[in-house]
Amino acid sequence: MTPHAIKKAAAASEPLRSVSVIAAGSYVPEKVLTNAELAQMVDTSDEWITTRTGISERRIAASNEVTSDLAQKAAQRAMQKAGVTADEIDLIIVASITPDMPFPSTACFVQEKLKAFRAVCFDIQAACSGFIYGLEIARQFLANGTAGTALVIGSEKLSCITDWQDRATCVLFGDGAGAAVLRHRPGTRGILATSIASDGRLTGLLNLPGGGSLHPASQQTVNDRLHYLKMAGREVFKHAVNSMVDAANQALKKAAVKIDQVNLIIPHQANMRIIKAIGERLGAPAEKYFVNLNRYGNMSAASIPVALDEAEQQGRIKSGDIILLVAFGGGFTWGATLLEW
Ligand code: UT7
Repeated sequence: MTPHAIKKAAAASEPLRSVSVIAAGSYVPEKVLTNAELAQMVDTSDEWITTRTGISERRIAASNEVTSDLAQKAAQRAMQKAGVTADEIDLIIVASITPDMPFPSTACFVQEKLKAFRAVCFDIQAACSGFIYGLEIARQFLANGTAGTALVIGSEKLSCITDWQDRATCVLFGDGAGAAVLRHRPGTRGILATSIASDGRLTGLLNLPGGGSLHPASQQTVNDRLHYLKMAGREVFKHAVNSMVDAANQALKKAAVKIDQVNLIIPHQANMRIIKAIGERLGAPAEKYFVNLNRYGNMSAASIPVALDEAEQQGRIKSGDIILLVAFGGGFTWGATLLEW
């Protein structure tokens, strides 16, 4: 047997290791775009946006600031908190619907910026559920010993795919990035359960049609505004509530944890009415869910890791707490992660 085969055989007989999020970090661009400013750009009002969504303002990246820059800053903050150096990272997963380029992966750009040259790097595309999907992929790499330290990053520059002439969508989104460092931490249970799912019958309700093989970029796709995000808001709303409640309940059931035992719920930050509806259906009081969408809007894959970092910074999470992360996005994709901090 080669040394590699021996190691593989030994790993196969070992029990899976627990995997913990050992630190989170986040970064949002400086520029703030308020509802009042949006009301100068399209036919909307602060009153409509606030009452229908809960959003007051969002961040907009500078023109020379790209998704991998936001990701790098969030990752560096997470690594600093974790006490992890770039050469210790084995795996970088970036979840994004706004990659720097169609290829190579944004994760490779981040690798170069972090100088984490030992890492295996790839992107995943699960829209707003990307961070939850990324956590599960990284968990499996770490649990079976394929990797020792992973970085999972949700990073989005949604301002570059937002149709600034469409009031139904342009008021909703913002730019930002969040990152988590994952490792086996002896003596802690870490990720307790995950539930992820997809439904490809509903691709038409939330997408960006242009620029792929279906509608390659052309003057016509630009004229038809196909390079902007499209969403059937009301339909998405209904599915979002049902799917996130299902995913959360499945993760709780798998881990045999009751909702009363959960210390904090971090839902995808798309709409305050969605968050309230989920809280009611799960039977969790308002003080148990974390909200920052008033300040950032919907940051897609970045929403949950930014919220996780802020919740910790605000003292809403302490060691041993049970946290429920739950997301929903285009695809449709959805999922929940239950973890012990
Ligand atoms: O992150 C991925 C998942 N995304 C989501 O979960 C988003 C889910 N959807 C939503 O959050 C909500 O559906 C929206 C916030 C997008 C829209 O809220 P809504 O209560 O579903 O509004 P609506 O689309 O049913 O529109 C109601 C009215 C319409 O006018 P009429 O037809 O009733 O006259 C819209 O034209 O509000 C109008 N409207 C606006 N008015 C002022 C739509 N956008 C605006 C706007 N300002 N920005």
